[in-house]
Amino acid sequence: MSSDPNVAMSSRPVPAGLVGVAHEPGVGKPDPVLVVDGLRRSFGGVTAVDVAHLEIPRGLITGLIGPNGAGKTTLFNLLTGFDTPDEGDWTFDGTSTADWPAYRVARAGMVRTFQLTKALSRMTVLENLMLGATGQRGERLLSALVSPAWRGQEDAIRVRAEDLLVRFRLDHMRDQFAGTLSGGQRKLLEMARALMVEPTLVMLDEPMAGVNPALTQSLLGHVKDLRDKEGRSVVFVEHDMDVVFEISDWVVCLAQGKVIAEGPPSAIGANQEVIDAYLGATHDHSALRRERRRKRDEGSEA
Ligand SMILES: Nc1ncnc2c1ncn2[C@@H]1O[C@H](COP(=O)(O)OP(=O)(O)OP(=O)(O)O)[C@@H](O)[C@H]1O
Ligand SMILES: [Mg+2]
Repeated sequence: MSSDPNVAMSSRPVPAGLVGVAHEPGVGKPDPVLVVDGLRRSFGGVTAVDVAHLEIPRGLITGLIGPNGAGKTTLFNLLTGFDTPDEGDWTFDGTSTADWPAYRVARAGMVRTFQLTKALSRMTVLENLMLGATGQRGERLLSALVSPAWRGQEDAIRVRAEDLLVRFRLDHMRDQFAGTLSGGQRKLLEMARALMVEPTLVMLDEPMAGVNPALTQSLLGHVKDLRDKEGRSVVFVEHDMDVVFEISDWVVCLAQGKVIAEGPPSAIGANQEVIDAYLGATHDHSALRRERRRKRDEGSEA
């Protein structure tokens, strides 16, 4: 964990809704937007996710941390309909979406971005965004936009897409193929596309990986705006603890698929189980920062 004494001081005060919530795995929250129960997914002999109970608070930023292979991405995949659990259930905004396909989950307002960006490189930036409104990903689904069901909405979709292009400073690239964007611009496009469905809950899988420092600040600003200006709920996977502590209201730590700790950043930074999980996985105190650098390099090569 960071040894910088200013880190804890710079983290946000615990929001009113979470004051008094115990700092323990699986703890209940006053107004959760997402509630997960008995969720398990294994691959061969490896249990990737084994979450007994987890509640994500509404209108706040939850940092999801844990060493490599802890199950963070698999948890996102399951909850957003990109993978199927061995067992388990969850409710989003009070509705069980456990059997829903990804596009339906997205349209209902729970949307995620990918650790490795998945912009469609042979479509323009604007087309990528407009497709986001359908909750779909594939090129063949561009036809969804010209189907009768969508025709009436196309103008509204275009207006929203143009607005997001300006907000994310991608408007000058609107007609270029997404394949020509830099790694950081792809991350911006990915986040903008997620917002096309006006989501209630946005799940960001390492949105800063592979992004240069200048763009990192801008991405962080966008993540804060989701909460502060739009009132959305955010779950955010990030390996850099300084970033996690700066913007998270609440932090959940996964290790070997299980929630091993939960609490406000100030409590998590001092949590021995969290420290042990990272050290056990890496055997090195400075591993967190190195890990972030590795991801950056990985991302810029992609
Ligand atoms: N499709 C798959 N097939 C086999 N094993 C998988 C698959 N997806 C994930 N796993 C395994 O499940 C475990 C959890 O992986 P996951 O990618 O969810 O971790 P993570 O916390 O996102 O890690 P990272 O921080 O490196 O992104 C790992 O042991 C991984 O090897
Ligand atoms: Mg991952």
